[in-house]
Parts: sequence; structure tokens; C-alpha cells
Amino acid sequence: MTDHQQPNAQQDQKEGADGFLRKLGSRLLLRQPDIRMLLIAGFGAMLLLILISGLESVRITEEIRQQETESHTRFLEGERVLSDIRTNLLWASIWIGDFLQSRSESTDDFYRRQLWGIRQELQIARTQQAMLPLTPEQVETWNRLRTKVEEFWGMLEPVLGWTPQEKARQAGRFLREVVIPRRTAILQLTDEFTRLNRLVLENQNAEITKAARQFRIRMLLHVVLSTLVGAVVALWTMRYARRLEVRLQEQYQESMTAKNNLERLSAKVVDAQEEERRAISRELHDQIGQALTAIKVNLGMVEQKIAAVSPELRERIRESKLLAEQTMQEIRDLSRLLRPTMLDDLGLVPALEWYVRSFSRRFGIPVSLQIDRTLRRLPEQWETSIYRSVQEALTNTIRHSEATKVFIHLEQSLENLILTVEDNGQGFELSSPKGGLGLIGMSERARQLGGGLSVESKQQAGTRVRITLPLPPVAAVPEETPSEVSL
Ligand SMILES: Nc1ncnc2c1ncn2[C@@H]1O[C@H](COP(=O)(O)OP(=O)(O)O)[C@@H](O)[C@H]1O
Ligand SMILES: [Mg+2]
Repeated sequence: MTDHQQPNAQQDQKEGADGFLRKLGSRLLLRQPDIRMLLIAGFGAMLLLILISGLESVRITEEIRQQETESHTRFLEGERVLSDIRTNLLWASIWIGDFLQSRSESTDDFYRRQLWGIRQELQIARTQQAMLPLTPEQVETWNRLRTKVEEFWGMLEPVLGWTPQEKARQAGRFLREVVIPRRTAILQLTDEFTRLNRLVLENQNAEITKAARQFRIRMLLHVVLSTLVGAVVALWTMRYARRLEVRLQEQYQESMTAKNNLERLSAKVVDAQEEERRAISRELHDQIGQALTAIKVNLGMVEQKIAAVSPELRERIRESKLLAEQTMQEIRDLSRLLRPTMLDDLGLVPALEWYVRSFSRRFGIPVSLQIDRTLRRLPEQWETSIYRSVQEALTNTIRHSEATKVFIHLEQSLENLILTVEDNGQGFELSSPKGGLGLIGMSERARQLGGGLSVESKQQAGTRVRITLPLPPVAAVPEETPSEVSL
């Protein structure tokens, strides 16, 4: 019952895992571009805000600066015109005074010209002033000022025609009652105008200060907004990066677990294969070998008994004995090939020497074997690894290389055991290896012991396979115990 349910449960589990992966895949496929688009939009908005803030600040600063310059220029211009009016008025008073005291016709003319010139200038000043933009209050004051100035000149005109006698009679009164009060009135009006001018400047300054404050608030808003958008984008980015990091970490963990499992599995496969070979080899040697020996002995006994009765049967039994003998030999060879007991009993060096000799004899190809003399016995795994690698490399040479010579070199350095198998065959393209699991198996055995495999090969230039195994710790090396060889 449980046996039947097992596959279904596994199926469910598999579908569950598949479904999860599919969901995860579609989530990642749909969501990652969305998040990316959002992030791009966020960064874009932030940059746009910064750009707008920058342009705005340049524009507004320029505007404020212009306003400031304009209002100052207007104020200074007004002050200049007023100062012109005052100066001219004072000059006019002086010239009038002088004219009234003058008793000569020629100097009178001079004073009249001076006064005429001042009048012209005052008109020019008025024209200039009229060009400036004025507030209604300023316009009103200005009109009063202009009327007063015109009245001043209007009253002066008949006086300029006075005779010396008229002057002597009326000069004091005219100066006292007409010129001084009117001059004072005009000066008061200019002062009034100056006050208004200052007021305009103060108002404009206040407006500029207000604009500057608004600008500061606007900039502050921009900064706050950019910072907020920046913070949101940064948060998103961090979350996105974190999620990717976690996913990556998970994937890494998954692949590491899968890799570890695979490594454990391949190590188990290699061990199991070795164990299996050893068992079959022993079975062949011990059971079938023994049985064949028994058959041979029995046949020998029957042969002796039957010799007198039937020479024909004796011949058959002799043939059978020979067949049993040959089969025993083949079984022994097969058993040795599978797992030479020599490897376990005498160690790597004699086993390799035996294998290489029989290989060379079987395939008729010279194989040179050089083994470091200082090499002592190694733990079983090391010896098996080297032995199997030599077997696989030599088999490859015969199968794929068409070589005419093979060199095997086994040496040890301070830390490593190095096996090199080199042939002078046709080589192969390393970038596109084909075929079975031989090289992979070699590499796997080496990796299990902390070593590695390297292959050098070129088309028509032979192949060199090199295996490097770190030497085992001294404690793991078995004592040298040469024992009986049982082949
Ligand atoms: N000594 C060699 N000379 C030429 N080609 C080789 C040699 N050793 C290996 N190869 C190439 O590498 C491939 C992989 O070898 P291997 O892993 O042992 O698998 P297999 O021997 O089962 O094909 C072979 O199929 C062959 O093309
Ligand atoms: Mg092979």
C-alpha cells in the first residue's frame, strides 16, 4: 500500500516544487521590469526636480536683482533731478538778488541771461522727471511743484524789466515778500517729493524682501520635495537591491546544496563501483575459480579410471580438462582486471607494472612506465585512484588516439603525487570534448582526494593527461607490509 502511494506523493511534491518555481519565475519576470521602470521614473523625477529648482533659482535671482537695480536707479534719478531743482533755485535766488542790486545795464543783461539759462535747465529737469514712472501721490506733488516753479518764473518776468530806480525802491520788499517765501515753498515741495521718493524706495525694497522670502520658501519646498522623492527612490532601490540580494543568496545556497549533493553522489558512485568490482573479482576468483579447480581435479580422476575402458572417452575428458584450465586462466585474468588483489596486497607499484606489461602485450603498443623510486605505499583510495586513472588513460589511448607510444610517469613532490600519461596519438579538440564519462570519472576521483585533473591535447599532437593528488597526511599512510601474492 505504502509502496503504491509513494510515487503519487513524490509526484505531488514534484508538481508543488514546479508550481512554486513557475510562480516565482512569473513573479520575477513580471515584477522586476515594473520595479525597474518605477525606479527609472523615480530617478527621472528627482533629476527633473533638481533641474527645475536650479533653473527657477537662477531666473528668480536674476529677476530680484533686476528689480533691485531698477528701484535704486529710479530713486537716484529722482534725487538727482530734485537736487538739480534745488541748486538751480538757489542760483536763481542769488542771480535775482545780484540783479536787483545791479545798477548797470550791461550787468543786468548778464544776470537776465543767467536766469534764462536756469529756467531752461529747470524745464529740462522737469521733462526728465516726467519720464519716470511716478506714483499718483508723486504726480500730484510734482504738479504742485511745477506750478510753483512756473509761478516763480511768472512773477520774475516783469521784475527783469525794472529800471534802476524801480529796483532801488522795490528790491527789498520784493525779495522779502515774494522771492524768499516762494523759494521756501518750492524747497518744501522738493523735500516732500524726496520723502515720497524715499517711500517708493522703501516700498520697493519691502516688495523685493517679500519676493526674496517667497523665493526662499519655494526653494525650501523644492529641496524638501526633491529630498522626499530622493528618499523614496533610495528606499525603493535599497529594498529592490535587498530583495535581489536575498534571491541571489537563496539561489547560491540552492546551487551549493545541489553541488554538494552531486559531489556526495558521485563519490558514492565511485566507491560503489569500486566495491562492486572488488566483490565480482573476489567471486570470480574464489567461487568460480574453486569450482573449476574441483572440476579439473574430478576430471583428472575420471581420466585415470576411464583410460583402460575407452580411449575415446579419455580423449574427451582430456579436452574437457584443458577447457577447464583455459577457463580458469580467463577467469583469473578477468578477476585481475576488475580488481587486482595485487593492488591490495603488494600496492600500487607492482600492480601498475603488471597492468602496463599485460596491456602492452595485449595491444602490442610500447608503454614506458617511470615511477619515482621513493614512492611508498599510500592509502587505498590514493592507490585505487592512480590505478584506475592509468587504466582509463591507457584505454582512451587505444580507443581514440592511434598512438604508437605511451609514456607514464608517476612522481611525488613534497606535497603532491603527480601522474602523467602522455601519448603521441592524434589528440582531440579540448573545446568540444565528446564521449563518455572516463575523463569525468578521473577528475571526480582526483577531486575527492583534494586534487585535480588537467588535459592538454591538440589535433595531431598527442594528448597529455595529468593528475595531481595532494599526498595524504603521514598518519594515513599504511606500514610497508609485503604479503603473499594470491593471483
Ligand atoms: N588519448 C586520447 N587521444 C585522443 N582523444 C582522446 C584521448 N583521451 C580522450 N579523448 C577524447 O576525449 C573523449 C572523452 O573521453 P572519455 O571521457 O574517456 O570518454 P570515452 O572514452 O568513453 O569516449 C573521447 O571520446 C575522445 O574523443
Ligand atoms: Mg574513456
